[in-house]
Amino acid sequence: MSASLATVSYIGATILFILSLGGLSNQETARRGNLYGMVGMALAVLATVFGPQVTAAGIPWIIGAVLIGALIGLYAARTVQMTQMPELVALMHSMVGMAAVLVGYATYVDPEATKGYEGAAHTIHAMEIYIGIFIGAVTSSGSVIAFGKLSARIGGSPMLLPGRHWMNLAGLIAVIYFGRLFLQAETLEAGMVPLFVMTLIALLFGIHMVMAIGGADMPVVVSMLNSYSGWAAAATGFMLSNDLLIVTGALVGSSGAILSYIMCNAMNRSFISVIAGGFGTTSATPKPAGGTAEPAGEVTPILAAETAELLRDAKNVIIVPGYGMAVAQAQHTVFEITRHLREKGVNVRFGIHPVAGRMPGHMNVLLAEAKVPYDIVFEMDELNDDFPDTDVAMVIGANDIVNPAAQEDPTSPIAGMPVLEVWKARTSIVMKRSMASGYAGVDNPLFYKDNNRMLFGDAKKMLDEILVALKS
Ligand code: TAP
Repeated sequence: MSASLATVSYIGATILFILSLGGLSNQETARRGNLYGMVGMALAVLATVFGPQVTAAGIPWIIGAVLIGALIGLYAARTVQMTQMPELVALMHSMVGMAAVLVGYATYVDPEATKGYEGAAHTIHAMEIYIGIFIGAVTSSGSVIAFGKLSARIGGSPMLLPGRHWMNLAGLIAVIYFGRLFLQAETLEAGMVPLFVMTLIALLFGIHMVMAIGGADMPVVVSMLNSYSGWAAAATGFMLSNDLLIVTGALVGSSGAILSYIMCNAMNRSFISVIAGGFGTTSATPKPAGGTAEPAGEVTPILAAETAELLRDAKNVIIVPGYGMAVAQAQHTVFEITRHLREKGVNVRFGIHPVAGRMPGHMNVLLAEAKVPYDIVFEMDELNDDFPDTDVAMVIGANDIVNPAAQEDPTSPIAGMPVLEVWKARTSIVMKRSMASGYAGVDNPLFYKDNNRMLFGDAKKMLDEILVALKS
């Protein structure tokens, strides 16, 4: 393949990647977005393998590596459960990081790769290698720890070493110091020592950074590592002088950063405080945070049959799913109930909070899996004004995302977090097993409101009972 054809293919692949990201931002176009991404990646791989930078002798090696990678990928895609997706993603980020490290070392030792770089160009190229290896090593070891935490192989509670911020700062200063030595090195051997020491520091830094972050903040961390893996790929692109890799890496890096930012905003957490660690444990019991953790009133329980009665008499119903729906795997019964009510002329809609559940789009994926029509699934902002005209707001295994304390109690740890205002509906019904708090560990004043009812029990079991009652 000629150089110009390879360039055209690269531009085509870049456009497809941008279209893919655009498609993935909406559930109706997500499938198409995936397709664009797959075609773009196939084009990118083919243009690279058959492009001018690869010699004929290298092709069998590449085909062998692609076959092995494809087999592992196929196996993983077939066996990994939906709930294990964040773990798989973390593992993949670790591979991207490790690839950046290996490419960095290979570029450094390969005389062909550094040929033609003189003076300032040589220094810039050496900096690309140094920074690329640094980002790659942090991403790689951090992602392995993230994988360990998500799969419960490593405890979820944050490991907070005394003076950890100072340790990080000392590490950073050491990285800069060895970077100077690396740039000044006259020979390959002399440069190898600072490069190796920096890699070690970067690996330790990645481990330390993610170990300090609590299990409950891991989704933000995975999204952040996703962003790092993009920058690692972009750095690899600079090392290899591959424009497509630079553009693709930048797309992944910036979209991961934007997603991390959106998630932090929707959780009312600052990005810096997530990275600094120390927040979020795996426990779901109330914490005495903000003085609101103790149950503060009487609740009014309701039975499944009574809930069915309320739903049957309603004209407008909004369902707010949360983490508990995912735990109970209740989405299919939710769909059955929705279908039944819609057949009876009830206007049923879903309200989705940006951080409902434990990963971005968690609820959308579950509802799509259960075949809930997209046109009745709304974002929080699209629906929040409609609660006063709603007869029943049914909260299924959600807690923090419907907590009025976010608006009413400025001392609450979730103060300022945008929430779905279910308490403004004529009746709100909260389905959960106990009075335990959610992820943020704070009590929920919604439970004690006069127009709120508590339907205690496993969401799947309760919804099954409601469905039976509705059909009877
Ligand atoms: P949570 O506030 O965590 O509340 C979930 C509730 O579900 C719990 O109170 C629990 O109460 C209930 N539950 C658990 N298993 C259940 C079951 N089998 N049946 C019925 N109920 C069950 O969840 P949310 O409202 O979806 O809010 C998400 C939280 O996670 C937010 O604080 C958000 O900031 C945080 N977070 C989200 C993300 C993303 S990206 N989505 C990332 C990190 C953190 P019981 O134990 O009493 O049943």
